[in-house]
Amino acid sequence: MVRFPDSPIYAGFSHPMRFEGDIYDLECIQGEVPPQLEGTFFRVQLDPQYPARNGDDMPFNWDGMITSFRFSGGHVDFRSRYVRTPRFVAERAARQALFGSYRNPYTDDPRVAGIVRGLANTNVYFHAGRLLASKEDSHPIEIDPDTLETVGVFDWDGAVTSLTATAHPKVDPATGELVFFGYAAKGESTPDIAYYEADASGKVTHEAWLLPPYPAMIHDWAVTEHFVVFPLTPLVMDHDRLKAGGSPFVWDGSRDACLGVLPRKGGPDEIRWYRNSNRFASHVMNGFDDGRLVHVDTPVGTTSAFPFFPDVTGKPFDPTATRAYLSRWTVDTEGGESFEEARLVGAPGEFPRIDDRFATKPYGFGLMSLTDVPGDDRFPPPNGAYRFVAAVAPETGRVDVYYPGDRCAPQEPCFVPRRPGAKEGDGYALVVVGRLDEMRSDLIVLDTTDLGAGPVATLALPFRLRYGLHGNWVDATMLTTRSAPEGATHVTGDEPA
Ligand SMILES: [Fe+2]
Repeated sequence: MVRFPDSPIYAGFSHPMRFEGDIYDLECIQGEVPPQLEGTFFRVQLDPQYPARNGDDMPFNWDGMITSFRFSGGHVDFRSRYVRTPRFVAERAARQALFGSYRNPYTDDPRVAGIVRGLANTNVYFHAGRLLASKEDSHPIEIDPDTLETVGVFDWDGAVTSLTATAHPKVDPATGELVFFGYAAKGESTPDIAYYEADASGKVTHEAWLLPPYPAMIHDWAVTEHFVVFPLTPLVMDHDRLKAGGSPFVWDGSRDACLGVLPRKGGPDEIRWYRNSNRFASHVMNGFDDGRLVHVDTPVGTTSAFPFFPDVTGKPFDPTATRAYLSRWTVDTEGGESFEEARLVGAPGEFPRIDDRFATKPYGFGLMSLTDVPGDDRFPPPNGAYRFVAAVAPETGRVDVYYPGDRCAPQEPCFVPRRPGAKEGDGYALVVVGRLDEMRSDLIVLDTTDLGAGPVATLALPFRLRYGLHGNWVDATMLTTRSAPEGATHVTGDEPA
């Protein structure tokens, strides 16, 4: 019997959906879908298959479900499927949760010892002909982009010996390389960082093992033309605490924030760590360099945004201190030991994205979800969710905002160029919006040259989509040239016999 506890994290719009299905030709209830959009918007959402093994839970510990919106000729088809991770398969066979607390293997049922704990619930990206669903505590899972069926665990044909791979790899648009890393690379709460580059065919061409000033979460990072940058903010790890059944991360306000800067394809002797006072950042909008100065644009808050990771001093969580403002961190690689910070945008928000054709280089356009816009007192954010979709110009601070309505929760925006060769930022933003009072969701298509004008198309779903984290657009031309899936290890035993 399945029964989710009476807990706010499972209540109302946040109640698990556990629904896999297809809708052929979504209903377009407003506007028209731009007919030149040919490709698929893949995203991943957090949706627990079973109630937590250890009572109350937190969303990052939920199973990953991929959704796809396939655009063709002005029509959009929808599909949703759980990722059949080894963990999902084991729990499905047992008809119950077997894995315990978030990223703490010491709280698991002994029957699952040795089974990878990854949930593939954070991002879904495409490289070298493979669609990969990812979470930073494990290797990604290859997904068939047509059927969304799980192909299996992917470890770059055995070349990635790190046990982990970030959910935020970067594709260098100039070379087609996938640039990625794993932290806690030798297992939960270990300090090691492994840095990799794979060429456009997916072959790993570089590996370097690094050590940070202190062991902590590194959720996202920056890749520029000449450097990689590891932002270390103090959600610190401690293996003894983990062994005692505690949180894998705690916020330590006494520690500096650090930026580890390493030349592309560099080794452990070449990394330099630059410091500034304590602060928090999670996602990176973009990074670029001029050969000497290295810039990283990221929303910066004064403390951790995650209420489920406690403060090391026991201080209660303060949601107002988590407001994050898009800022630029700059390192002078020929200068001193610290980095500088300058605020770029005056409205707080997160989930920064760019026109990915400008990744690694100077850029002038970004998208974000905003919690607040100064002077705009429309309906307060429901449960801390985002209220606005914004197009921002980092160089000028200009913000163009779209408000989807009271008690509507937009998720991470995804940019699609209007056509091949369109100038930077000229295109569309695809955004899933939760209609909280209607208990359902829409996919909206916004014109990024005039976001405030409202959607050019609204595609209605007759049910809720769970809160998602990240997603990406994959052009139809890329999907027709994808690889055969020999490189992945198949996960078996999906359904109990
Ligand atoms: Fe993320």
